[in-house]
Amino acid sequence: MTLSVTDAVAQRKSIRAFTDQPVDNEVLSSVLKAALRAPSGGNVQPWRIFVLNGDPMARFKAQMEDQMATNPMGEPTQYEIYPQGLKAPYRDWRFEVGEDMYALLGIAREDKMARLTWLQNNYRFFGAPAGLFCFIDRDMLPPQWSDLGMYLQTAMLLFQERGLATCAQEAWSRWPETIAKFVGAPNEMMLFCGMAIGHADTQAPVNRLVSKRAPQDVALSFVE
Ligand SMILES: Cc1cc2nc3c(=O)[nH]c(=O)nc-3n(C[C@H](O)[C@H](O)[C@H](O)COP(=O)(O)O)c2cc1C
Repeated sequence: MTLSVTDAVAQRKSIRAFTDQPVDNEVLSSVLKAALRAPSGGNVQPWRIFVLNGDPMARFKAQMEDQMATNPMGEPTQYEIYPQGLKAPYRDWRFEVGEDMYALLGIAREDKMARLTWLQNNYRFFGAPAGLFCFIDRDMLPPQWSDLGMYLQTAMLLFQERGLATCAQEAWSRWPETIAKFVGAPNEMMLFCGMAIGHADTQAPVNRLVSKRAPQDVALSFVE
């Protein structure tokens, strides 16, 4: 039975450990094409998606291992992920989800080295066999950047329906030049994020993470 949209929304969560079970290009293609129905302001459809699977993914991962070894700091970033001095309550929520994740991983706050080492798993797509990179034209403005989210969440829900797990990954903003070169993105395009796609490793403790949400009245107000 097909998952309802309500269930897909409720069940989707970020998965950070995958099995090596492959994902067919046909499935990737069918989901990523269906997600092109996502809305965008003025229908400008600013997303440009590059998919990695199979042999190209293997080559990309091998290249990343070399680059992480030779340049552990990564490349200059092209955008800031968060504002400088992220304020409360946002910084508290960010901190909390991080602490909850490291608790599941058994990594203490003081163990900066272990945390950094774990974060490098981002650059292995957390072991996922497939992934994508989402680019946008450098001319675009915040409204078009928000359209990228429309596409990405639509795709994540459709993957959920197919029994596939995902994790959106801004962490890839550390490697914009390497990625653009590898996928052949033209200079006018800028990397936003990646997405790991595959089958969840149900044994991995990190995948037990269920992120919290702020009380609904913080985000939602019915005007009286
Ligand atoms: C655009 C975007 C980028 C993200 N980047 C990363 C990332 O680089 N690494 C990571 O582990 N999680 C990343 N996440 C996952 C978020 O941490 C996660 O969505 C949030 O904590 C809520 O948890 P949930 O997705 O399980 O509901 C990203 C999510 C989004 C939407």
